[in-house]
Amino acid sequence: MKLILGIRAQLVAGIVLLTTAGIGLIGFLSVNIVETRSVYWKIIEAGHTVRLVRFMTSGMKEQSLAGVADNLKPLSLAAAALREVGIDTFEFIDAGGAVILRQGKLSREVGKVIYDSGALKVISVGSGWLAGPGEYLYVIAAMRGEGVKSGKLEFIVPLTDINNDMSVVRQFIFFYALLDSFIIIAFGIYFLSRLVINPVRALEAAAKRISGGALGERADVPAENELGALAASFNVMAGRVEEEIKTLERMNLELVSKEEELLRSKTLAAVGGLAAGIAHEIGNPLGAVHGYIDILSKGAGGKAEEKDLLERLAKEVGRIDVIVREFLDVARPSSRPPHPVDVSSVVKEAVSAVAVHKDFKGISVTVKGATQTPLVAIDEGKLRQVVINLLLNAAHAVKDARKDVSAVMVETGVRKRPVTRALMPHRRRDDQPATAAEVSAPEKDYVFVSVADAGSGMTEQESRKIFEPFFTTKEVGSGTGLGLFISQSIIKAYGGVIEFATKQGEGSVFIVFLPVGQWQEPERAENAVGE
Ligand SMILES: Nc1ncnc2c1ncn2[C@@H]1O[C@H](COP(=O)(O)OP(=O)(O)O)[C@@H](O)[C@H]1O
Ligand SMILES: [Mg+2]
Repeated sequence: MKLILGIRAQLVAGIVLLTTAGIGLIGFLSVNIVETRSVYWKIIEAGHTVRLVRFMTSGMKEQSLAGVADNLKPLSLAAAALREVGIDTFEFIDAGGAVILRQGKLSREVGKVIYDSGALKVISVGSGWLAGPGEYLYVIAAMRGEGVKSGKLEFIVPLTDINNDMSVVRQFIFFYALLDSFIIIAFGIYFLSRLVINPVRALEAAAKRISGGALGERADVPAENELGALAASFNVMAGRVEEEIKTLERMNLELVSKEEELLRSKTLAAVGGLAAGIAHEIGNPLGAVHGYIDILSKGAGGKAEEKDLLERLAKEVGRIDVIVREFLDVARPSSRPPHPVDVSSVVKEAVSAVAVHKDFKGISVTVKGATQTPLVAIDEGKLRQVVINLLLNAAHAVKDARKDVSAVMVETGVRKRPVTRALMPHRRRDDQPATAAEVSAPEKDYVFVSVADAGSGMTEQESRKIFEPFFTTKEVGSGTGLGLFISQSIIKAYGGVIEFATKQGEGSVFIVFLPVGQWQEPERAENAVGE
């Protein structure tokens, strides 16, 4: 697991580390300096002592003769003086190297030479960076000064007092270092919090609130430093973002209303076109009817001719009747309110109904997919009409194409689609970019019926017009151009949509989507209670 430290914890850790290291180093240096100074004073003292002994023994006769009686007195006086200054381990050595007076035992250990003037040499024994000032100083002094053949005095200066002092100094420094660290860390944290952490946290919180949707939020960082400037820039940026988003929202609203307007004007145009179409479609047979009546009223020809005219009359009236009835079918409110319908069984019925139709001679219809689909709310008769329309169109397209394979495939099933696509059927193409509303809309279940054929397909131009009333590519008498128009108005009325895809020379597929009925859940719940 990765441990995540906040900025405060990281900074505190940094401060503690730096402070401890800094104060530790300063403490170590101070102790070393004090030690060095103390040893320095010991060396000066040793120098004085040596000068005193030289003075006291300056009257000695012959350096090499230890046994000379005159020498004994100054030597013992010098020894007494040494003892007086606290030096109780020493040796007087004559110029020949023989010890003439000794007290205690000098162990000639090796150490570091810390002072050497020729006549006086001081060796520190047991000292070092971490070992402190060492155990003692080993002093070697010429009895008669430099350059003269002389005897030697060697003695030990114990450093016990310095060592004792230093342990006190160390404790003292350690205590102050600890105290200093606490004070520095406390102040450091306080100032860091005020200067860095709190402003950064305020910025972070503001950013979070803004990204959470509160666009009016701003970071409150009054500091007059880079962080304050950063917060000010942040606030300016947030203001810009807020403005931009508001503009976008406004533009979006405008766009939606424009779109609605466009739809309305398109609908009006369609209605106008529809009226013109009706006038045109009915006008032709009506004209013929007039003509026939004219001829008949003039009493032209014999019985056979009259009969022929009447038959033609009936045919034209029949054409008018078909058109009017088809429109009435759409306009008339359904005889039954929408009720739960199993689409797959309606499709099966429609398929067996068209199978005997003359247009389906030599064409095989395959049905696949779900044997039972969720119930949808629709008028069964109208749904059958839609499916038959699509099947007939497919059959005509297959006939037109004159290919070897003359098959029509029908499939039923359930598919998820965004709700809004169904509510905005004018966006019928799947290749159109989805709107924000569509993306955010929860997906909904739709029952679909697809009718696919390997027929003629359509050109791009044709495919744009097929839902318009009276648009047909078929000969007069074999197509009214109302099939898809009526089918679409039926499906739209029940909250569904018709989509299609086509490729000229390859075939087309038409898909009807119907929303799965909403009553299903309560009905099931009732059953559950009843059980
Ligand atoms: N499956 C299809 N394959 C090719 N073209 C089709 C298909 N379905 C419809 N169309 C085209 O759409 C036009 C309009 O169809 P529709 O509204 O049913 O009227 P109609 O069938 O009376 O012509 C057709 O004339 C045809 O050009
Ligand atoms: Mg048709």
